[in-house]
Amino acid sequence: MKAVNLRTEFVVNPIGVDDPRPRLSWVCIHGERNQIQKAYRIIVASSMEKALNCVGDVWDSGVVESDSNIVEYGGPPLKSFTRYYWRVKWWDGNGRESAWSDVALFETGVMDSKEWRGFWIGGGQLLRKEFVVDGDVEEARAYVSGLGYYELRVNGEKVGDRVLDPPWSDYDKTVYYTVYDVTKLVKKGLNTVAVMLGRGRYSQKFAGVKYYDEPKLLLMLRIKLVDGRIIEVVSDETWKCIDKSPIIDDDIYRGFKYDRRLEPVGWDKSGFDDSNWKNCIKVSPPNGVLKSSSTIPGTKAVAVLKPREMYNPKPNVYVYDFGQNITGWVRVRVRGCSGVEVRIRYAENLNSDGTLNTKNLGGAEATDVFILRGDPIEVLEPKFTYHGFRYAEISGSIPPPSLDDVEAIVVHADLEPIGSFSCSNKLINDIHRIVIWSLKGNLTNGVQTDCPQRAERMGWLGDAWLSSDSAILNFNMIKYYEKIVNDIIDAQKDDGSIPDVVPPYWVLYPADPAWGTAFIYIPWALYLYYGDRRIIERVYEHAKKWWNYLYSNTKDSILYFGKYGDWVPPGRVFNIQDCPMEIIATWILYRDAKILSNMAKVLGKYDEAKYFENKALEISNAFNKTFLHETDMFGRKIVGYYSVYTSPAGTKLYLGSPRFGGSQTCLALPLAEDLVPRERVDDILKALVHSIEVDWDKHLNVGILGAKYVLEVLARYNNLQLAYDVVTQETYPSYGYMIKEGATTLWERWEKLTGSGMNSHNHHMFGSIDAWFYKWLAGIQISEPGFRSFTIKPPIIKGLDHASAYIYTVKGLVHVSWSRSGNELEVNFSVPVGSTAKLFIPKHVNGGKISDVFEGERPLWRQGEVYKVDGVRNIVNEKEYLVVEVGSGSYKFKAYYR
Ligand code: BGC
Repeated sequence: MKAVNLRTEFVVNPIGVDDPRPRLSWVCIHGERNQIQKAYRIIVASSMEKALNCVGDVWDSGVVESDSNIVEYGGPPLKSFTRYYWRVKWWDGNGRESAWSDVALFETGVMDSKEWRGFWIGGGQLLRKEFVVDGDVEEARAYVSGLGYYELRVNGEKVGDRVLDPPWSDYDKTVYYTVYDVTKLVKKGLNTVAVMLGRGRYSQKFAGVKYYDEPKLLLMLRIKLVDGRIIEVVSDETWKCIDKSPIIDDDIYRGFKYDRRLEPVGWDKSGFDDSNWKNCIKVSPPNGVLKSSSTIPGTKAVAVLKPREMYNPKPNVYVYDFGQNITGWVRVRVRGCSGVEVRIRYAENLNSDGTLNTKNLGGAEATDVFILRGDPIEVLEPKFTYHGFRYAEISGSIPPPSLDDVEAIVVHADLEPIGSFSCSNKLINDIHRIVIWSLKGNLTNGVQTDCPQRAERMGWLGDAWLSSDSAILNFNMIKYYEKIVNDIIDAQKDDGSIPDVVPPYWVLYPADPAWGTAFIYIPWALYLYYGDRRIIERVYEHAKKWWNYLYSNTKDSILYFGKYGDWVPPGRVFNIQDCPMEIIATWILYRDAKILSNMAKVLGKYDEAKYFENKALEISNAFNKTFLHETDMFGRKIVGYYSVYTSPAGTKLYLGSPRFGGSQTCLALPLAEDLVPRERVDDILKALVHSIEVDWDKHLNVGILGAKYVLEVLARYNNLQLAYDVVTQETYPSYGYMIKEGATTLWERWEKLTGSGMNSHNHHMFGSIDAWFYKWLAGIQISEPGFRSFTIKPPIIKGLDHASAYIYTVKGLVHVSWSRSGNELEVNFSVPVGSTAKLFIPKHVNGGKISDVFEGERPLWRQGEVYKVDGVRNIVNEKEYLVVEVGSGSYKFKAYYR
């Protein structure tokens, strides 16, 4: 028995936590099967010695009977700039006590904004300050926020590995600061702290994008000396800044332009002559509240790709192919004369002559420019910008940079991988891979952007919730999404409305309901996957307000409002004629009422839960009354969902392909939320299958909303084989078509488009498919919040022989690996302590009937006779399945068919 993987706010030993009640979590490990945590005890100590001696002088939770392994710190108020040490032990189902865990720690940031010393300064983009430390340094921390971006240096060295920091926010509401351990960089004697500021989103000058103010800095260095004294070096008017900066321009869309001849060499080190630099000035602070970003995954340079090919389409123009569409930039080593201009341009596509095709970048110039100093070797690497690209062009009067001189730097949030998936079908694995690349490339800057390349890169909420399950199954997303939910709260107006994009750098109020639903869907998804209710507590009142805003705009409980609808179906951008806005909007309103009702239950607000339940019922009745039809526009008897308008002259107008009952999306949505009256389910399902099989030759005819729900509905209503056949298509429109046409990230459109207009080659919004792989191909489905229970249902699909996946959940490792050959089905899986799983063993496979089931070497079931197996809690003989319920542990099941 052990408690491992101790975390504070879901991070291992974080520094700079400013949450007054950080969440402490751990994972229980037990050598026996079928175990639970019955109770726990946490101690928080003020020193390592005390923690090692098991003394909880700060807080001792005492023995708490609970199966929860995510617990809020419950001691006295935490002090700023303080390190706390904690341990946990737990009791199993038999009352046995574990040993104390290893010691974990967390360090607080600025708990009270009054404790900030120094003030916001500005005046230029290069700022520096020398200071003397008159004693030996025990430890040093930097608390820094630079808007829009900063790069912090101490004695000539870059601090930390974050880039494009701090995370984006609405700077009128929230400003993030980051905390760094700089103990190794600060020394006794003369030191220099230097900061380069970038414009980022705060000082962005781009038509249509919100501009806040010129770049500014807030910094506090706290240096603890061995003799106990504390030295504070803070941003103030004693700092120096330079008039003539080497930065000619920096903008996330335009790129980084830098004159290396103007770089004041050594400016970030002590002894530099800054006598001709001017003093920084005190500037007005941003309006937002300062919050630590320390536990939010920071944006980092996470990998390096070498180019696989180089072309030379024109003299002095060199084009490099990195083989993968990524988010980031290029680093290149060049040799050239002083004053020579080197340009790096970026693109997702090539023209047939090998030159870059930048037509789909909109207004984004995506060009980094460097003017060389003339050193024997110069390494050029941009800052304060990023690009979405597979190809880069380097030009200038320089000798050709070789393949070894050029690197692509992959930049995105430092996301902890917690899941993986693979199966026997290569195409599915390829789709999985391109989804992952798209997700990563759009999780940057603390935002989930739509795309990383064109002059947009906005946190579109529709895109965000649609791929959120996929993101959560692959990465530890809780802190990232909590940040995004905070962005939405920040953006909410008094009337309850929220915008389509957050932070609202484009001001788009009110959101399309199918975009704004991220405000409700994502917190609920976090609750489901992580089992932690804090996000529900935080969001509930705000989410209610948004829902009420929409509800107050309904007519007879139908919401006639929408902006984008089932966005980007085959051949189009809008899908209004195929899938009317009011069907989607009302469906969203219904679903959100149900989620709000569930949230209210979690919070113990049973009256409100009832209220939303009633609203959901009211809306579902109106939905079916208005949109469910028994005849089509020609008077034929065909059941389906669509909109009918009657003109003043009495003619009827049909919206939503009433042919064969409606569009795929219109048919799938009500099925997905159990909105269809029971006696109509078969008809609606038949219409959907007809559209897919007959009208579309086993292809999807959907936008981003339908893409999430059509496959889900097929799988859920016993058409998994059809769903699989659709998913493995290689002809247009399909995921396989993208792959076949060379996609290395998901496209924005089903078509291969390379002209101007909306056709990003790196959009994650169709990425909902990946969660479907985990759920229906690996067969893992969550049943109770936080993976308290889940099901494992190996699918029987023609063309798929094996699949496996793991998810490192809050309870611990969930792993499933199944394979089928001849008349055997093998399922290996593990269930963490505190969880139970139901394994669904099909009773018929390949025309054979189940005869025996073994777990390891032992029989569990032989021709109907049940044997006792350690960890197995129950076996239910259902019509199509043997359902085996197990407790925690690792299992190896084998079923034989005859
Ligand atoms: C974005 C989409 C977004 C859509 C909404 C586009 O410009 O790229 O991803 O959801 O607008 O209309």
